[in-house]
Amino acid sequence: MAERDPAWKALEKPSHPHDSAPLHVTGEARYADDLAEPGNMLHLAFGQSSEAHAKVVSLDLSQVLAAEGVVAVFTAADIPGSNDVSPFAGDDRLLADGEVTSHGQPVFLVAATSQRAARKAARLGKVEYEPLPALTTMAEARREQSLIEPTQRMARGDAAKALEASPHRLSGRFEMGGQDHFYLEGQVAVATPGEDGQVHVLSSTQHPSEVQHLVAHMLGRSSADVTVEVRRMGGAFGGKETQAALFAAAAALVADRTGRPAKFRCDRDDDMVMTGKRHPFEVSYDVGFDDEGHLLGLSLFLSSNCGATVDLSPAINDRAMFHADNCYYLADVEIVSERLKTNIVSATAFRGFGGPQGMLAIERIADHVAARLGKDPLEVRLANLYGPGREETQYGMTVADNIAPQMIARLCETARYDDRARAIEAFNARSPVIKKGIALTPVKFGISFTTTHLNQAGALVHVYADGSIQINHGGTEMGQGVYVKVAQVVADVFGVPIAQVRITATRTDKVPNTSATAASSGADLNGMAAYNAATAIRERLTNFLARTYGCDEADVHFTPGGVLAGGETLSFADVTHKAYIGRVAMSSTGFYATPDIEYDRAAHKGRPFYYFAYGAAVSEVAVDTLTGEHKVLAVDILHDVGRSLNPVIDVGQIEGGFVQGQGWLTTEELVWDDKGRLLTHSPATYKIPTASDRAKHFTVTLWDGENVEPTINRSKAVGEPPFMLAISVFSALNRAIAATAPGKRDLPPLDAPATPERILKAIAGHKAS
Ligand code: MTE
Ligand code: MOS
Repeated sequence: MAERDPAWKALEKPSHPHDSAPLHVTGEARYADDLAEPGNMLHLAFGQSSEAHAKVVSLDLSQVLAAEGVVAVFTAADIPGSNDVSPFAGDDRLLADGEVTSHGQPVFLVAATSQRAARKAARLGKVEYEPLPALTTMAEARREQSLIEPTQRMARGDAAKALEASPHRLSGRFEMGGQDHFYLEGQVAVATPGEDGQVHVLSSTQHPSEVQHLVAHMLGRSSADVTVEVRRMGGAFGGKETQAALFAAAAALVADRTGRPAKFRCDRDDDMVMTGKRHPFEVSYDVGFDDEGHLLGLSLFLSSNCGATVDLSPAINDRAMFHADNCYYLADVEIVSERLKTNIVSATAFRGFGGPQGMLAIERIADHVAARLGKDPLEVRLANLYGPGREETQYGMTVADNIAPQMIARLCETARYDDRARAIEAFNARSPVIKKGIALTPVKFGISFTTTHLNQAGALVHVYADGSIQINHGGTEMGQGVYVKVAQVVADVFGVPIAQVRITATRTDKVPNTSATAASSGADLNGMAAYNAATAIRERLTNFLARTYGCDEADVHFTPGGVLAGGETLSFADVTHKAYIGRVAMSSTGFYATPDIEYDRAAHKGRPFYYFAYGAAVSEVAVDTLTGEHKVLAVDILHDVGRSLNPVIDVGQIEGGFVQGQGWLTTEELVWDDKGRLLTHSPATYKIPTASDRAKHFTVTLWDGENVEPTINRSKAVGEPPFMLAISVFSALNRAIAATAPGKRDLPPLDAPATPERILKAIAGHKAS
């Protein structure tokens, strides 16, 4: 159970459970694959590339067509419109067109009467390839300067000069791996043809509008011909921001060409091979500092493996640069970001969106500087925090509500950091095999899409004559609880219980031109849009009541005890019934666009974020130095969600985000072979954290502040920031490993994820250094 701060209680909102919680638990919640299938439904599978990079010389699909149950087979030539499922660069093919650029890429599409028949037949294609040189590693891509876009530079001051002038200087390099999203519900889409060329697509997507537009272009039709609907996803984590479009487009193509409903439910292994993951990064740095550990000059090189296509890599790598300061003021700094193009599946959005990679870089640098100075890394962190006179980020944004120092101080005290650090030192001195480590790392995460125009949302609210309410908005539900949060906002506007608000599936025919539910901004944007819609209706009702009861509008109040008007107390249903008879419009759209943000991407300067969300975590670990295995023993988190919209949902996001971050940094390892084939493509070889990996002692406290910006309820976004609190685990592991050679003023050469193998290597490397 999460523990909470009593001071924060005063701000507590009722913690409504997730609206679908009972349905999730009983199995009644309907996902795309649970809906009844019409008798003529077709099932789909891709024929996939066996090569990482090759020309497709010839395609013989006769055996596929002849296979049992097969109804049709499609190639790129069968696509009536544009063969593109990319978010903007135009380089992601639905079906390969003459060339394949990664192993597993879809080459042809099979439609059959059953899923089994489609999958079996897909293996019967005879594809002749002419191999092209394949770049399967970052080193090869760097040698060839194969990039998805020019190398970017974000800088302030003169890093080179500051480095020269620094009393101490060191350099280092390390790597961090990617991560598979491992959503429980895999990629799935169901397309149903309508009349006159229209199509309805049920898609497990974070971005219904983008799927709508891509399907329309692919079919050579307009957006008005395509409706995309998503009631819920069984997890997404960024993996359904762009990657869902492939499956939706395939289903829509078959529905359009055959006139029959078509479902694509991707096999788990194929899903892992075929869809994008978190970007692996290589980091190198040159840092100058003084005796106290103040970072005086930093030259940081971030290189990422973007895979075969552009996807969202520009914005993801930008976000890595934006978060390479984390909570620290870097006076003279140069961040160079290289975006490598290789022949592995294109990397994509994943919780934190590049932020974790940038943040791990600076936290590792703090650990390195501390090791060199023989200091506790927390001292170095504290010495470099943003503060008065040092509140501007390297991209020129002012850190307006710098609460990191107070949060760290509070957590240090409640988690008894100093006592425990001393106890661990004593333990390590007498324990030859098991070594422990502790670390406190903070988080400052920028909230907003850095592509400014995406920061908009729409909502549609209907109030029925019986007083019941339906809401719809552009946000999609992936388990994070955006639906229940927004429902609460609307219920509060009318003073009605949340049970009176019916949450409906996200649909492009209800709310148009929506952004992906991403960048943690779902509740911020859609909550405000729904608030605006509900408020517009309340104003009409207020006006009607004032006229009816001969009172001022200021004397009409919607309260939990009923609606007060001219000395009368009416039930909400009374009001809506009277308003219906009185011919008042009780439906409204609402819109919201985040104010005050702007960003000049060419210069990498501006205010890309509306505000920052903060957090801090203390993690304690134990490492078995003979086997390289470790255990996370204790985790204490203090996290800032502003004035929470729903504390229980927020605590769930914090716990889940942390454990997912822990998985990224410890157990989840992606391995590709030299032919560019993913070897870790099933749960048998790819290890996400399990219940037993969660620390026995695990506390979450919500910070008792509110957002300085006027967000909905003065809350803050929560979806991604807690993921990065898990950097404390990596830092603690590092200290446990360092304890194998006490007194050595060097950083163990640990790369992420810290698997037993890597930990053993780091121990050996540290002892030998
Ligand atoms: N929580 C659950 N349970 N499932 C998810 O797929 N995705 C995360 C986060 N929390 C995710 C989740 C990611 S990557 C983002 S960007 C946010 O939720 C998106 O939702 P929000 O903007 O409503 O917070
Ligand atoms: Mo989250 S990576 O922004 O979908």
